[in-house]
Amino acid sequence: MNSKLNIGIIGAGRIGRVHAETIAFRLPEANPASIADINPQAAAAVAARCGIAHVATSAAEIFDDPGIDAVLICSSTDTHAGLIVDAARAGKHIFCEKPVAHGLERIDEALAAVEKAGVQLQIGFNRRFDANFARVRVAVASGEIGTPHLMHIVSRDPAPPPASYVKVSGGMFLDMTIHDFDMARFLIGGEVEEIYTAAAVMVDPEIGAAGDVDTAVITLRFKNGVIGTIDNSRKAVYGYDQRVEILGSAGSISTANCYPNQAVVSTAESVRRDLPLNFFMDRYTDSFVNELRAFVQAVMEGKPTPVTGIDGRIPVVMALAARKSYDERRPVRLAEISSLVHA
Ligand SMILES: NC(=O)c1ccc[n+]([C@@H]2O[C@H](COP(=O)([O-])OP(=O)(O)OC[C@H]3O[C@@H](n4cnc5c(N)ncnc54)[C@H](O)[C@@H]3O)[C@@H](O)[C@H]2O)c1
Repeated sequence: MNSKLNIGIIGAGRIGRVHAETIAFRLPEANPASIADINPQAAAAVAARCGIAHVATSAAEIFDDPGIDAVLICSSTDTHAGLIVDAARAGKHIFCEKPVAHGLERIDEALAAVEKAGVQLQIGFNRRFDANFARVRVAVASGEIGTPHLMHIVSRDPAPPPASYVKVSGGMFLDMTIHDFDMARFLIGGEVEEIYTAAAVMVDPEIGAAGDVDTAVITLRFKNGVIGTIDNSRKAVYGYDQRVEILGSAGSISTANCYPNQAVVSTAESVRRDLPLNFFMDRYTDSFVNELRAFVQAVMEGKPTPVTGIDGRIPVVMALAARKSYDERRPVRLAEISSLVHA
């Protein structure tokens, strides 16, 4: 392998552009060598912005390129599993955005191809690499707050996506809550065994018409006895609301939202501050850099990636359980969805 990891990027949409900028401007140990998108103008625009030397006509061209060491799969979710299979067969190391797929059969095909090829795979659960949430994990893992008893995740978007997006996204649990399912496993360091969902359409009737929900409280029962909640909304008018609290036998730890500044305005009428950072591109900027740095290091040093294929699979099982619980109005054990839920 060269002194720099040569990376091919597949998908030049919202997240593809974020990752291309990271590789180009913030990770000197990696080189953005090639980019492909089924929309050639999108690929060309990101290539021009990030100084990417080659615009490929397809993902297959990137896989066939012997100069490429690793690929970032940043295309729409329905393409992920097939692209993982093709990349693995071509011997490329793989970073793939969440979720791996909407169904377990496709995920299992992809993970089997990765295992057979012996390449490395990392899934894009960037929130693990956020400084606030990483500190919560340290407090739990080190015993600083004793034995964890309760976990609360608040995860609300500033505004709902268009109904056209909802129709292909797999629904809120697979598209949005998937990050929170991963966060729950990561923070507690254990697996969930049962899920109960109360959900509704409160924000946008179009989302309901597309067969999805936009508001939910999901109760998690962990195997180790911890009880957790995930509080989701597609619309918090004050911005991106991303908070966590864990109560343990020796104390609690919590994180607040992140703000563009720390200024507080105090007048005779009120004490106020500006709104939190508005969405994921601003709120999680550093985590996107940290996750790719970890991926590049893992590949270059031949070490396991920090977010594996199984870490990509389990939150999908949780999302399917959450939906089934909502549909059937009852607690659902993860074992009902898949016997393959790893401890
Ligand atoms: N980790 C995160 O916080 C995060 C944030 C946003 C999106 N995502 C995930 O990233 C993926 C992309 O989301 P997005 O918001 O960037 O979507 P997007 O629609 O903005 O971009 C997707 C791009 O992929 C291209 N594309 C589709 N099929 C392709 C193919 N076969 N080959 C090459 N290009 C192809 C499209 O033309 C488009 O430009 C989704 O799976 C989404 O869940 C993750």
